[in-house]
Amino acid sequence: MTTSIITLQDHEHAAQAALGEAAWAYFSGGAGDEITLRRNVDAWQRLNLSPRVLQDLGGGHTRCHLLGREWPMPLLVAPMAYQRWAHPEGEFGMALAAAAQGCGMVLSHQTSTPLHDVAALVATDAERGPLWFQLYWLADRGTLRELLAQIEAAGFEALVLTVDAAVHGVRDRERRHGMPLPEGVKAVHWPTSAPQNKPSTGLCAGLADAAPTWADVHWLIGQTRLPVLLKGITHPQDALQALSLGAAGVIVSNHGGRVLDTLPATAELLPRIVQAVRQQHPQALVLVDGGLRRGTDLFKALALGADAALIGRPVLYGLAHAGAHGAAHVLRLMRDEFEATMALTGCAQLQNIGIDRLWSQKPI
Ligand code: GLV
Repeated sequence: MTTSIITLQDHEHAAQAALGEAAWAYFSGGAGDEITLRRNVDAWQRLNLSPRVLQDLGGGHTRCHLLGREWPMPLLVAPMAYQRWAHPEGEFGMALAAAAQGCGMVLSHQTSTPLHDVAALVATDAERGPLWFQLYWLADRGTLRELLAQIEAAGFEALVLTVDAAVHGVRDRERRHGMPLPEGVKAVHWPTSAPQNKPSTGLCAGLADAAPTWADVHWLIGQTRLPVLLKGITHPQDALQALSLGAAGVIVSNHGGRVLDTLPATAELLPRIVQAVRQQHPQALVLVDGGLRRGTDLFKALALGADAALIGRPVLYGLAHAGAHGAAHVLRLMRDEFEATMALTGCAQLQNIGIDRLWSQKPI
């Protein structure tokens, strides 16, 4: 990796040069006209900071509490499929990078490396962040139960159920290039599809019929001893419904703009969800992802009330052009920029980061 790489945008350019056209289209692309994809990034940039000077920064740190444990950083790597398509080190490289930087990792259900191997690599690392597993709903409950048992046995600490993708998003770039996965790269825990005997009726040729409902979420929460977070929440009422069913938290996400275009940015969605959740479920977690490209963006997410944030594409870009080293560098940049933002806004600890550190046109 050259010394000219000093921002997440530099990593993005290097990844574009390193990846083939189809892989670049898959990883960087979004749904429709990619309006939400761009808006996610813009919305963080449009928020302005409001520092306080001369605060006591002695003993400052970035440690956070999630699900009953203390972790070094309020940042996790978002679940992303087929990481071995981006780089041969794949999910191994990503897990090592996250652990080395004290960040969490949410392993994708569509991981191209077995879940036990990824967990075994980092689970005993005392300095790592949270190790969570992302699930898509599987219509076959028996298969899902078996997978849950493997996830629990491997040492994952929470489940993240993605609920915003009842069907695949309309992704033009992906459709143009297809998904020519390299030899030997596949989603190792994804069920091989059963022969379809049913007539293809219903929405999306019947695919939507198998999409999960609230009753399935209720069932899933009852099946596992792990805390369950719902990812892909954009409506306050959905957040409240998830928590009243026993979910431990929600992840405010529009799937990185990859599923339904023209949704608002997550920075715009977050405040209403935080407000609803904090009133009725003060212990529940609210996380956010989508468009974070700077340490200031992570700071703004926390200032809007998130407990932590997830970062996806940028860290995948680091992996794509420089393996674990590149992914770790992206997370390191986020850490360094975040710590500088805390110091420069007068926040020694995360609990000092509040809405008052965001500039508002309304006089306070
Ligand atoms: C999978 O979740 C994807 O967005 O490609």
